[in-house]
Amino acid sequence: MKSNKNHGYGEIKLFTCNANPCLGEDIAQHLNRKLGMSSVMKFADTETYIRFEDTVRGLDVFVIQPTSAPVNDHLMELLIMTDALRRASAGRITAVVPYFGYARQDRKDRSHAPISAKLVANLLTAAGVDRVISMDLHSPQVQGFFDVPFDHLRGTKIFVKYYRENLADNVEGDFVVVSPDMGSVSRVRLFAENISCPIAIVDKRRLRADESEVINIVGAQEIKGRNVLILDDVISTGGTLVNAAAAIKKHGARNIYACITHPAIYSKATKEKIENSVLDKLVVLDTINVQKEMRPMNMEILSVAEYFAEAIRCIHEGKPISTLFSE
Ligand code: R5P
Repeated sequence: MKSNKNHGYGEIKLFTCNANPCLGEDIAQHLNRKLGMSSVMKFADTETYIRFEDTVRGLDVFVIQPTSAPVNDHLMELLIMTDALRRASAGRITAVVPYFGYARQDRKDRSHAPISAKLVANLLTAAGVDRVISMDLHSPQVQGFFDVPFDHLRGTKIFVKYYRENLADNVEGDFVVVSPDMGSVSRVRLFAENISCPIAIVDKRRLRADESEVINIVGAQEIKGRNVLILDDVISTGGTLVNAAAAIKKHGARNIYACITHPAIYSKATKEKIENSVLDKLVVLDTINVQKEMRPMNMEILSVAEYFAEAIRCIHEGKPISTLFSE
């Protein structure tokens, strides 16, 4: 529904860049708005150039742009768009970043390593971002890298609804929710509390940046004879998920489902790894646009558009968005 309320920042204005224009369109549709006209192009030397057509003076501008692969290009688009908006006197600029690239580099885990997530936060605020909306950061502490308001939406809300509508009454047997590594334990606890079922945790060891192995399962006794729901923030090579699923199956699981927020699937190898795994179904959100030829056959995509639209509407109208955080 169109809002005419003015909370000091003028009307809502929505823009998107190249990372996930379909999601931008869907969010705009839920808000009963049109996306602002802009052109995002590259010069011959690969520099990015962005120009928008409409005036933004004094307006409440939301730029919808996940920083998914190619991460550097999409991040630069967001930064350059923000710079252009600031120079055109936008009233407030909110970066809507459904998938926050570089979030996994959130600490100095060995000597001489960067904290790239903090660098990205610095870049966004230096460019002129006044606030940020994102979803399921690798670790929620990344919010603290920003000194501007940060609204952190949870994919859990969408997945719990999916579970209730599609699995709870249609799949025979009880469920257990499993974290495929230590990083997703709080996400799994929250989900399990919502659907009142036990949890188990896979103890994963990362061998190299893109390779991991399962060492142990904490709470393995909960798995035998139950259906399993694996929850995680991101799927990249698919190693974490597929290895966890295989270990879980060995412990006597019935059906295995996975709900993963960000599908960073960019290779046929990952697609095939998921298709050939013991997973019965992978459910993901459309924070990242997975090319059709990279989509595993056993993958279902749920939309975050309505959820983000609601967050944008609340922020614009100066209303609390805490109700969006429950579940
Ligand atoms: C790691 O801590 C994350 O939560 C994901 O489990 C991981 O990044 C997934 O990566 P991949 O699919 O390459 O195993």
